[in-house]
Amino acid sequence: MSPMSSAPKQTTVGVTSKADPRDQMGRPLRDLRISLLDQCNFRCPYCMPVTEFHADYQFLTRQQRLSHDEIVRLASIAVELGVTKLRLTGGEPLLDKKVAELVSRLARIEGVDDLALTTNAMLLAPVAQKLADAGLHRVTISLDTLDSGIFRAMSGGRGDLATVMQGMEAAEWAGLSPLKINTVVQRGVNDHTVLDLLQHFRRSGHIVRLIEYMDVGNRNNWRSEEVVSSRESLQQIEARWPVRPVDPSYHGEVARRYEYVDGAGEIGFISSVTDPFCGSCSRARLSAEGMLYTCLFASVGTSLRDPLRNGADDEELAAILSRIWLHRNDRYSELRGPGEVLRPVRNKVEMYRVGG
Ligand code: GTP
Ligand code: 5AD
Ligand code: SF4
Ligand code: SF4
Repeated sequence: MSPMSSAPKQTTVGVTSKADPRDQMGRPLRDLRISLLDQCNFRCPYCMPVTEFHADYQFLTRQQRLSHDEIVRLASIAVELGVTKLRLTGGEPLLDKKVAELVSRLARIEGVDDLALTTNAMLLAPVAQKLADAGLHRVTISLDTLDSGIFRAMSGGRGDLATVMQGMEAAEWAGLSPLKINTVVQRGVNDHTVLDLLQHFRRSGHIVRLIEYMDVGNRNNWRSEEVVSSRESLQQIEARWPVRPVDPSYHGEVARRYEYVDGAGEIGFISSVTDPFCGSCSRARLSAEGMLYTCLFASVGTSLRDPLRNGADDEELAAILSRIWLHRNDRYSELRGPGEVLRPVRNKVEMYRVGG
C-alpha cells in the first residue's frame, strides 16, 4: 500500500496544494502516463531511428530512473489531485522485468478507474496473463502494418510480426480488452497496407486507431508530406465499407470513433495534426527520470524526482504537482497549423521518453 492511498484526503492535499486543480484553460488533470524506461527493443524510424539510437547510445541508468516505490508514490499523489487513469508506457514498458509487480501496486490505488499499458507486444505473450492477474485492465498494441516486410522495416529491423500476433492473442485470452491497436499511417511507407490491416481486425472485437504521423521530438525528420490525414484515410475506408460516426466513450477521448455499418466493429482516428484535441487534454506525462511534462510536445519539464529524493513529503509533492498543473497553458497542436512545425523545434521531448 502506498503512503498516500492509506491516508485521508484532507491530510494529504492540504493548504499548499489544490485538489482537482484546473489549468489556465480550465482543464482538469485526469490522465497520468508513466514511462517506465527510455529503452525499446524496436527502432521505429519515426520514433527511435537506428542511426541515432545505436549500440553506444546512453540510455538512463537504473539509478537515474524512478524506482517502483517512487512511481507508486507519485501516482498516488496524482490520483489524490484528480487522476483516474494511468497508462504505463516506455520506450517499451515490458523491458521492465518487474512490471507486473508494479501493476499490482498501481491497481490497488483507490481511485484508479483505468489502468492500461502501451506495448509493441514483442514480449507480451509470456506475461499477458501475469499482467491481467496483477490487475492490468487492458493493453494497447502499436502495430503499423500486417505486411511482414514493411513491419520489419518499420520496427527498425527488430520486430517479428508473428511474435507480435502471438502477444496480441495472449492478451485477448487474458482478457486485457478492449484491445486497441495503434497504427501510425505514414505516406509512402505503410499507407497502402491500412485497408488490409482493417480487414484483418474486422469482427475481432479489437479497435484499430489510425494515427496521423506527428512531429513529436526532433529526431524523426518529420515532413508534412508524409502525413496521411484522417479525412483521407476515412475516404479510403468509406470506399470499401460503409462507416458512421459514434459518440465518444468518455469526455476528452483522443480518438474520433467510427463503426462499420455492417456491425463488424469500431475504428478510431487520432488526428493530432489536422484536427487537434487540446481543448479537452487532461494528460500529464511522467518520464522515466521523473520529469513531468504537461504536453506531448513540451520542451521543458519539471523534475519531480529531485524534490522526491531531497526528502519532500507527500504534501509538498502534491503542492508541486498541483502548481505545475495550475500554470499549464499548453496547446501545441492547436497553435501549429497542419503543415507547419512550431518554433522552437530543437528541444522538444522525444516520444520514446514519454511514451506517446
Ligand atoms: P484510450 O485511453 O484507449 O482512449 O487511449 P489514449 O487516448 O490514452 O490513447 P493512446 O495512449 O493509445 O494514444 C494513442 C496515440 O495518440 C499516441 O501514441 C499519440 O500518438 C496520440 N496521442 C495520445 N495523447 C495525445 C496527446 O495528448 N496529444 C497528442 N498530440 N497526441 C496524443
Ligand atoms: N507520430 C504518431 N504516433 C507516433 N508514435 C510514435 N511516434 C509517433 C509519431 N511520430 C506512436 C507509436 C505508438 C505510440 C506509443 O506512439 O506508434 O503507438
Ligand atoms: Fe517504436 Fe514504440 Fe519503441 Fe518508439 S517506443 S521505437 S514507437 S515500439
Ligand atoms: Fe495535449 Fe499537448 Fe497533445 Fe494538445 S498537443 S492534446 S496540449 S499533449
